[in-house]
Amino acid sequence: MNYPVWEVPIIGGAWVIGIIAIFHVMISQFAVGGGLYLAMAERKALKEGHRDWLPVIKQHSKFFLLLTAIFGTVSGVGIWFAIGLVQPEATSTLIHNFVFGWAIEWVFFLIELTSAAVYYYTWDRIPEKLHLKVGWVYAISSVCTLVIINGILTFMLTPGSTWLGIVGSGHESAYFWNAFFNPTYWPSLFLRVLVCTSLAGVWALVSFSRLDEEAYGEARTRMVKWSATWLAPSFILTPVFFAWYILMVPQENKHLLELGMSTIGSGAFTQVTRLGLVSIITTATISGVVYFFAFKYPKDFTFGHAVSIVFLALCATASTEYAREAVRKPYVIGSHMYSNSVRVSEIPAFNKNGYLTTSMWRPNGLDATPVAVGQIVFRGQCMSCHTLDGYRSMRRFLADRDEKAIGNILKMLREHKEDSPYRAYMPPLVGSDEEVAALQAYLMSLKSAGTPQGLAMK
Ligand code: HEC
Repeated sequence: MNYPVWEVPIIGGAWVIGIIAIFHVMISQFAVGGGLYLAMAERKALKEGHRDWLPVIKQHSKFFLLLTAIFGTVSGVGIWFAIGLVQPEATSTLIHNFVFGWAIEWVFFLIELTSAAVYYYTWDRIPEKLHLKVGWVYAISSVCTLVIINGILTFMLTPGSTWLGIVGSGHESAYFWNAFFNPTYWPSLFLRVLVCTSLAGVWALVSFSRLDEEAYGEARTRMVKWSATWLAPSFILTPVFFAWYILMVPQENKHLLELGMSTIGSGAFTQVTRLGLVSIITTATISGVVYFFAFKYPKDFTFGHAVSIVFLALCATASTEYAREAVRKPYVIGSHMYSNSVRVSEIPAFNKNGYLTTSMWRPNGLDATPVAVGQIVFRGQCMSCHTLDGYRSMRRFLADRDEKAIGNILKMLREHKEDSPYRAYMPPLVGSDEEVAALQAYLMSLKSAGTPQGLAMK
């Protein structure tokens, strides 16, 4: 336990990351797809002589700049704050392994933001061909940001056997590309590109639905229809790339999906499957709504239609991202680090010497009552997934259990046998016998209402 634990009541730390991430994904993937959209729309307008499209595209580029440059960047920085506070150990691992990845990413961000502003402010001020080139600079640099971040995101699910084989040796940086182009890199990249192009279409529909019919006339209608076609590639190709993605996910994680499938409606981990279904159903509904309202009858397309599509897209994003995160459980970095920051390689030493021996976050001397020690163990090993009274509430789980039952659960968690049902979603409990007994004492104290005695927050 090298870092302090940030206690977030009710929703828990993971949901702080989750809530910011869901909005960030909606906007940042629009930033990538929308760049391609703008460049391709302007190119089409110039090449095919739809000059009446240009004012529509210009309006859209303002909407695009405001949404991506403000909300995209603010939510992106928000994610950094959130992951640094909630998962400091994993964040540190990502920073150390991908120093140059991050550096390249920031260079592309800089080019991206600059060219987005230049693109908007140079409409009608520089030659049309040059303006279109600025659009392409934006489009390409923003695709590059996805190409880089995708390596780091997929690494967390599937670091790959080469990296796992050398981690801890001090030679990680020599294996940068193995970690980067990990087993899920390519299918995930294609899936994300599809999501980006769909979101480009969805947000364009929002932006155009707000335009005045009278002022923009036929161009608005035709661009609504054209925007609808941006959802077609993902409608056709997503199943293919998704199947490829699932193929590359390790059996250990897939087990979680299967567990969900076979026990649907009961049992612990059906959420993954349920959310997978929500994601499929909302995506299909989006396709239907976009086809009938935007593609078939673009003239009658209203802001209300657009907002409902965005809302459905938000549900699809939320459920997909949640399922993707859940599949990785109990790890934060696949087969290397558990969600509670315990590295697989550290477990024997923790069990031998104790979990808190090397930690500066432990009660000393007279303060070190079992309950106080147990609370620190709980914060370190359980709070990354459980809260006391809210999300995955510990008090609720313990309500019907007596001392013996709690002892049994801790025993199962500690032994972490192959056939343990908890193995699929909980890390092993580590530490000395005294620490496990202390955790049990603390859990028992939770059952007697309120804050355990002598444990007012220090
Ligand atoms: C990686 C995330 C994660 C960590 C870390 C974690 N748990 Fe869990 N735990 C879960 C999930 C997921 C469930 C199932 C939740 C549900 O059924 O809604 C669960 C369920 C439980 C249950 C109820 C089990 C049952 O059979 O009813 C108990 C008790 C529990 N956890 C205790 C702990 C303790 C104690 C720790 C720390 C030593 C811990 N958990 C650490 C994810 C985690």
